Amino acid sequence: MPIQLRRLLLAFAIFIALFLVVRYFLVPDSYGELGAYRSLSLKENEEPIAKFVGVETCEMCHDTIVKAKASDVHQKLQCEVCHGPGYLHMENPETVKMIIPTEREHCGKCHELNAAKKSKIAQVNLAEHNVENKCIDCHNPHMPWELKE
Ligand code: HEC
Ligand code: HEC
Ligand code: HEC
Ligand code: HEC
Repeated sequence: MPIQLRRLLLAFAIFIALFLVVRYFLVPDSYGELGAYRSLSLKENEEPIAKFVGVETCEMCHDTIVKAKASDVHQKLQCEVCHGPGYLHMENPETVKMIIPTEREHCGKCHELNAAKKSKIAQVNLAEHNVENKCIDCHNPHMPWELKE
């Protein structure tokens, strides 16, 4: 066998050995058990729970607020847009508290005037619109047009 060929074969052998070592460490354990994918990923994908449970769930215990909200301009907003995900609260309402967003900035996320952005949502200039108070001192968040005194 010519010497060049022997060197070449040696280089191949080293390359293949390296490949097998690297492959051994990189391929996840459950790969190939059921096909060309990680079979454990099936189990992982079964596990995530829905964190946003939807207004129908809130209605079981807060039907008065659900009805009030449905009668006014915030009817299309999901409760959890403002109060955060309800999946833990619905099981333990006494111990797991929902977020109560009382700051002006919270309403501003949707209502702050932005000259560069056309919006179908009514916009107010937060720096001018009744700056002394929180929005919810005047607007009921569930029925914004029910103004408090
Ligand atoms: C636009 C944001 C927003 C949306 C949407 C919203 N809330 Fe609220 N919610 C608030 C704010 C702000 C307060 C605090 C009001 C206050 O202290 O005057 C509050 C207070 C509450 C409270 C506690 C005080 C009370 O009035 O009993 C409950 C319960 C509640 N919301 C449930 C809901 C439910 C159920 C929905 C969906 C039907 C909902 N909220 C949708 C902002 C919102
Ligand atoms: C199984 C009944 C139940 C369900 C379902 C439920 N809540 Fe409540 N929620 C309660 C009770 C009871 C309280 C009062 C807890 C307290 O005062 O200790 C409460 C209180 C609240 C409060 C006031 C802050 C707090 O956590 O005490 C908000 C806001 C709220 N709920 C929003 C929601 C939203 C939004 C949903 C739907 C994603 C929801 N709740 C689903 C029973 C429920
Ligand atoms: C997630 C987005 C969102 C948040 C947060 C939000 N709103 Fe709204 N709001 C809307 C939408 C959508 C409408 C319906 C479209 C409209 O009338 O501009 C609306 C309508 C209104 C209106 C009636 C406007 C009109 O011209 O009829 C008022 C007032 C209002 N919201 C006040 C508030 C206050 C106060 C807060 C904070 C407690 C708040 N909103 C938080 C989305 C939001
Ligand atoms: C002192 C009471 C008061 C406070 C605080 C207040 N508002 Fe108002 N808001 C009003 C009144 C009254 C109107 C109707 C007359 C007007 O447009 O000024 C109104 C109108 C609105 C409108 C409708 C504007 C339109 O063009 O249709 C929106 C949206 C609104 N407010 C959002 C907010 C937000 C967001 C906050 C907090 C950053 C807030 N308001 C704080 C009293 C208040």
